[in-house]
Amino acid sequence: MSTRRFLRFPDGFIWGTATSAYQIEGAWNEDGKGPSIWDTFCHEHPEKIYKGQNGDIAADHYHRWQEDVGIMAELGLKAYRFSISWPRVLPEGTGQVNPKGLDFYDRLVDALLERGIEPVVTLYHWDLPQTLQDKGGWPWRDIVHAFAEYARVVAGRLGDRVTWWITHNEPFVMALLGYFFGDFAPGIQDFPAAIRAAFHLLLSHGYAIQAIRSTTSRPVKIGITLNLSPVHPASDSEADRLAAQRMDGVLNRMFLDPIFFGRFPEDMKALMGPLVPEISPEDAQVLTTPMDFLGVNYYSRAVARHDPTFPVMELAQVHPEGSEYSQMWEIYPPGIYELLMRVWKDYSPQLILVTENGIPVPDGVDFDGRVRDERRIRYLRDHIAQVHRAITDGAPIQGYFVWSLLDNFEWAHGYQMRFGLVYVDYDTQKRIIKDSGRWYAQVIRENGVWVEG
Ligand code: FCB
Repeated sequence: MSTRRFLRFPDGFIWGTATSAYQIEGAWNEDGKGPSIWDTFCHEHPEKIYKGQNGDIAADHYHRWQEDVGIMAELGLKAYRFSISWPRVLPEGTGQVNPKGLDFYDRLVDALLERGIEPVVTLYHWDLPQTLQDKGGWPWRDIVHAFAEYARVVAGRLGDRVTWWITHNEPFVMALLGYFFGDFAPGIQDFPAAIRAAFHLLLSHGYAIQAIRSTTSRPVKIGITLNLSPVHPASDSEADRLAAQRMDGVLNRMFLDPIFFGRFPEDMKALMGPLVPEISPEDAQVLTTPMDFLGVNYYSRAVARHDPTFPVMELAQVHPEGSEYSQMWEIYPPGIYELLMRVWKDYSPQLILVTENGIPVPDGVDFDGRVRDERRIRYLRDHIAQVHRAITDGAPIQGYFVWSLLDNFEWAHGYQMRFGLVYVDYDTQKRIIKDSGRWYAQVIRENGVWVEG
């Protein structure tokens, strides 16, 4: 006989959902917005995106934000993580502010607060103003000051109401997919440039913290969101074990060590030699500017196999047989527990927020108008249970955000991947709360999940 257990979360636990500007807003050239590198990338390289799609309209959130906030209220969200489009606020990247851009986010924040939904603002979710890419983009050192200026402008407007700030989303993806693999905007393939980009993203995070703190008078909580994964070796062999260590270095420690310790990992310096930037004592100070929380995005683990043809970056990923897979990744719920415990023990962040977790499901609307995404419910339940386990074991986790509120433009995968708790019919822009959305609303109401056994 199966029994059910309820896993209760601590009082005040922050249940949220996440989105990003380019993936949902649309209105790519309206009301004075400047072009971003994602506008350029999609328009100039349709062959790099599924069916040549783009975010020109996306989920049309720029026009439908009121309806969307209404849906959030219906779900009972405690918090909503969204990103600000830098070129909507500063069309040229620096200098002239676009008042209509700021007004949009200003109204959104007010509407959220009126419904008792805490705004969690991500400053940068990959949509760099094209003008700044033209000057060199993230590999260019002076960009850190442009980012600090942007942070000051946004904090100057929203800082009287917004408590939670995230400087960057997933600098690994921005740096490596944008400047090395070239699958994402700006589509550059240059390894040394990618490493410089990573360094400047992290450095600009430190400058942005300082900018936000000096602009706002209310007590704020500022952090960064990293995409992290536990890395397991594909076999017991020494070669695979070392490969997993290297992959862990590139994926996790190259981003965690600079902001917590002010240095790059020794083994990465030995591996990449002069490609790893020297960190001056002044830069180390900026990198380690105290932050209030670490945001962790988790989707899957990584499994590493040694690949002699790829000596620097060990990204020879293996897909273990017998595992369950989604359209994009292996489904591995214990990985989030392992990761959260590791990050807590090795880096001692004051607080941790799980800023993204979710699964693409090829959802469809049934005859009766319902979207039965049972698989997403299972994925979320199993991961939330692992988060609960980490909390029980002492990790200071204060919130959990489902990626995503709405189906949206999943970068190079276009609209093929549906991550939403809310279905979007892209022909009509009609929204339908999926079964997972109703299920998540119950999780929030009860402040916990029911699990079997
Ligand atoms: C993360 C991104 C987010 C979304 C999810 C599926 O890497 O932060 O924008 O694409 O993956």
